[in-house]
Amino acid sequence: MLQAYLINSKHSIEQWLGNMLQSPIVEFEPLYESMNYSLLLGGKRIRPILTKAVLESLSIDAEQYKEFLCAMECIHTYSLIHDDLPAMDNDDYRRGKLTNHKVYGEGLAILAGDGLLTYAFQLCSQNTTATPEQQIKAIHCLARAAGPEGMVGGQAFDMLSEDKQIPLEELKVLHSGKTGALFNASVELGLILGKADSQTYTHYMTYANRLGLLFQITDDILDVIGTIEELGKTPGSDIRQHKSTYVSLLGLEGARAEAKKTADEAHQALSQLNRNTEILGAIIDYLMERTN
Ligand code: IPE
Ligand code: IPE
Ligand code: MG
Ligand code: MG
Ligand code: MG
Repeated sequence: MLQAYLINSKHSIEQWLGNMLQSPIVEFEPLYESMNYSLLLGGKRIRPILTKAVLESLSIDAEQYKEFLCAMECIHTYSLIHDDLPAMDNDDYRRGKLTNHKVYGEGLAILAGDGLLTYAFQLCSQNTTATPEQQIKAIHCLARAAGPEGMVGGQAFDMLSEDKQIPLEELKVLHSGKTGALFNASVELGLILGKADSQTYTHYMTYANRLGLLFQITDDILDVIGTIEELGKTPGSDIRQHKSTYVSLLGLEGARAEAKKTADEAHQALSQLNRNTEILGAIIDYLMERTN
């Protein structure tokens, strides 16, 4: 059931994304081409799918908020383009293709990232369904998650922690910034737009927090055991860059045990909700067992 849900949701999201970025003038076309190159060909779309699933668990049709879902994917894609740059992880493959800078050069790759990040907020402001209050809250949520308090903070910490072993508690802080913040925001966007009550909020956000951590533990594991064909990105990137990861600190089995414990905690949070959370529960298992 989840398989079909993921395929259908990815399809809808990719249709919305595909009709979005068109160059207003011929001179800007190379920039738009490089933004669309990274945005449109591949990717699991798990963050907007999560927002969609949260909205649906609150009995709300996600399509009327499609700008927010697309904004989330734009921000995530920008983070990947910049993460792959020579000055950061220096990776050559992403989503099964050459990385953006390998095709368009570093300058245009940086600008494609800048363009996607900024465009995300343009999109949010263009939605006509959300009330002005919801719109401000949603934009604040996204900006906080993407910026120095969230993803960018985590990425900086990640970069500055290369070549040293940091303790597990610090690694959790790093992961909660670089990956957790956007996962939290994916769920919180659904709660803001779906007008969830404050009691419900807490359990959804615990779920989000555990899911983001689970996602990055699995990413660390896949960097060690995955293949380029499955991942669409070159494995071994963390070892090459001397990163601290769950695997480098706990070993493969230790990382797997931590993933399982984190997944159980996510299920536990969902069980507190009086809602149909079947899809959200299945997403936990999918993220633990994923191979890409
Ligand atoms: C990769 O994210 C970057 C991390 C936060 C670990 P995804 O694994 O969601 O990448 P795509 O969108 O499916 O390519
Ligand atoms: C990147 O983490 C997270 C962001 C892009 C914010 P990683 O560097 O571990 O992601 P991959 O493994 O390159 O996808
Ligand atoms: Mg990185
Ligand atoms: Mg990387
Ligand atoms: Mg990684």
